[in-house]
Amino acid sequence: MIIAIDGPSAAGKGTLAKGLAAHFGLPHLDTGALYRAVALRVLDAGGDPGDESAAVQAAQGLALENLTDPRLRDEATGSAASRVAAIPAVREVLVAFQRDFAGQPGGAVLDGRDIGTVICPDADVKLFVSASPAARAERRALEMKAKGQPADVAEIERDIARRDERDSNRAQSPLKPAEDAHLLDTTNLDIEAALMAAIAIVQACRTP
Ligand code: DC
Repeated sequence: MIIAIDGPSAAGKGTLAKGLAAHFGLPHLDTGALYRAVALRVLDAGGDPGDESAAVQAAQGLALENLTDPRLRDEATGSAASRVAAIPAVREVLVAFQRDFAGQPGGAVLDGRDIGTVICPDADVKLFVSASPAARAERRALEMKAKGQPADVAEIERDIARRDERDSNRAQSPLKPAEDAHLLDTTNLDIEAALMAAIAIVQACRTP
């Protein structure tokens, strides 16, 4: 069973993907981490995340250990990731890795922006998770404060809006729900309620 979960940042898709993977006993890939790792490699080499040849080189040299760096979660890495993700040649390099992961026996859960539309268009279940920009900024601020980092909610909301704009309007693989995706708005749901709703959607897809 392949479960594809897409949606904008801080809508809750990562938490839901982990919860669904644990519930159904499936491996999970956070595909945003791939773009973040590419961006971090470019930044660490002193490059510009908008530079196609630097970003493609970083994507080609990506190794599993690049996916565990704690700096992947930094806001600066997220912004740079959104820029490398807009480069079609970078996306092409990362397609095979994601499809290989999805093709494991038994299936997998993948979360990202284009899993249901491009990476796994034949996924058994597609979820598109959203939440209001204000709720997403609030959640991101709480996460940052929990890590002891300063967080300005208004600034985070502006950054989220900028990133949404870039992710939704890029030419290749823009962020948008697949036609057959189930929409899940988590604005007024806590983590447990959102996970219950997601499990119910998956169960319904499994029992036609
Ligand atoms: O989900 P995230 O914040 O970790 O994603 C980081 C960036 O990577 C974000 O700007 C969108 C981009 N991304 C993408 O374009 N396609 C994916 N499948 C996953 C993430």
